[in-house]
Amino acid sequence: MPEANYLSFKSIRKTFPGIVALDNVDLEIYRGQIHALLGENGAGKSTLMNILYGLYHQDSGDIYLDGKLYEHNNPKNAILHGIGMIHQHFMLIPNFTVLENLILGQASPKPPNLEKEYFRKEILKVAEKFGITVDLDLLVEEISVGMQQKIEILKALYKGAKLLILDEPTSVLTPQESQELFKMLDDLNKKGTTIIFISHKLNEVMQISDRISVLRDGKLISTVNKTETTPQELSKLMVGRDVVADYKKEPSNCGKEVLFAENISLVDHHNRERHLVKNVSFKVCQGEIVGIAGVDENGQKELAEIICGLRKPTSGHIHLLDKDVTNSTTRQLIEMGLSYIPSDRRHQGLVMDFSVAENTILETHYQKPFTKWFSLQKNVINKFANDLVKEYDVRTPGINVPVKNLSGGNQQKVIIGREFSKNTQFLMVMQPTWGLDVGAIEYVHHKLMEARAKGVTILLISTDLEEVRKLSDRILVMYEGEIVGQADYYTSVEEIGLMMAGSKKQNVHP
Ligand SMILES: Nc1ncnc2c1ncn2[C@@H]1O[C@H](COP(=O)(O)OP(=O)(O)OP(=O)(O)O)[C@@H](O)[C@H]1O
Ligand SMILES: [Mg+2]
Repeated sequence: MPEANYLSFKSIRKTFPGIVALDNVDLEIYRGQIHALLGENGAGKSTLMNILYGLYHQDSGDIYLDGKLYEHNNPKNAILHGIGMIHQHFMLIPNFTVLENLILGQASPKPPNLEKEYFRKEILKVAEKFGITVDLDLLVEEISVGMQQKIEILKALYKGAKLLILDEPTSVLTPQESQELFKMLDDLNKKGTTIIFISHKLNEVMQISDRISVLRDGKLISTVNKTETTPQELSKLMVGRDVVADYKKEPSNCGKEVLFAENISLVDHHNRERHLVKNVSFKVCQGEIVGIAGVDENGQKELAEIICGLRKPTSGHIHLLDKDVTNSTTRQLIEMGLSYIPSDRRHQGLVMDFSVAENTILETHYQKPFTKWFSLQKNVINKFANDLVKEYDVRTPGINVPVKNLSGGNQQKVIIGREFSKNTQFLMVMQPTWGLDVGAIEYVHHKLMEARAKGVTILLISTDLEEVRKLSDRILVMYEGEIVGQADYYTSVEEIGLMMAGSKKQNVHP
């Protein structure tokens, strides 16, 4: 039975320079429940959880755990009190084994030569108790993202977590991995673990949570029981208005051929037997959106990097507007009208220590009007950045704060705004709505459709099948580096799913 008075937040307030991130938030978490936190980008979800875990301190307000005032919150104390947090960006060391990662920093009661075996037994006991299967001897760099997440969860459980906080755990997972995670969370929950789960995906929230709280602009808007609400009601609570789920699409007026990928292959340089990309050929014409669907890590990222000049293929050619650009640099491609929205915003899309304004002109800073007579035009840049912030609804205290201070979704809006405000002929987008809230997703989709109507050529790579189906004129399915099938909006989800899993193959001609 769920039990009230397990964890209470009372009037939590937290400000950052120029921003009230949390405004007198009251929240009750019941023991034994799965509690979802929903809210737009920048609503304060991560901040509230970071306060509980002790990474930040509230300006005012109290936290009660088991009816007692919970003070001195820091991560060490959190762990002692049975609170574990799984961050969005995992903190495992790639060239250590799973076992080594799990025992890192643990005090051992055994002498060093017996340590590993002792921990192996202890960890396997915990893994068995919670029904988690792991291979402790693999290197972390060899295992999938879904598996790494399991390891993080096991690590928290091994340290005695009774409450698990997961901040957007599914945004890095494939649909299948997400389902596995939910099954695992459900099992943990049945064995008594309380779970706080942050997500933007309403179907996930509806699937696994018992209670749901919605934050908006730092305020707690409402807490509802899952059985007493609907996805429509939740999205309205989050955004403050109705959100359009689907829209009509005119058939594209396919113009001239803009991109032609011809027999692209890329061999893995660690293992030359293995192809990361294999004989991929396709064309995209003007005013068309071609979507590439596929489970993550099936060569999409490598393909995107080849198209954008960040990597050279082992064989094959890329043609852009009838020119062979296989050996062109990214800057040359940008000058030909390429825009690129990468999936890895923290490393490829933004310079985290630069200000919002600097990030809005990252690849164009040397061009007019931003640079004139070799000097940066501060006023022009500031106006550009301010307009972009306004148009794309980037929630930030100002354009001069470092972009790392923005919430994940707002960082993505900076990239989207920057790339959409270029004079783009060809747009290569990868996971454009990763981490965005429903309102922002709707906006980005609308912008993509608007660009398509203007004749921009768009290649959309996304692991979100719904997104690919909704936006693409044609869908190509990628599996283990190959294009294994072609589909469109009318192809059933099940059929595309089978192609994504590699169990159905067609011959596809460009
Ligand atoms: N370290 C920080 N310095 C300055 N401002 C911050 C910092 N961390 C968060 N903020 C601000 O606090 C607000 C709440 O951010 P938070 O990360 O909690 O949002 P979120 O609800 O998790 O959003 P998202 O869904 O985009 O992850 C945002 O306006 C953000 O810019
Ligand atoms: Mg967040």
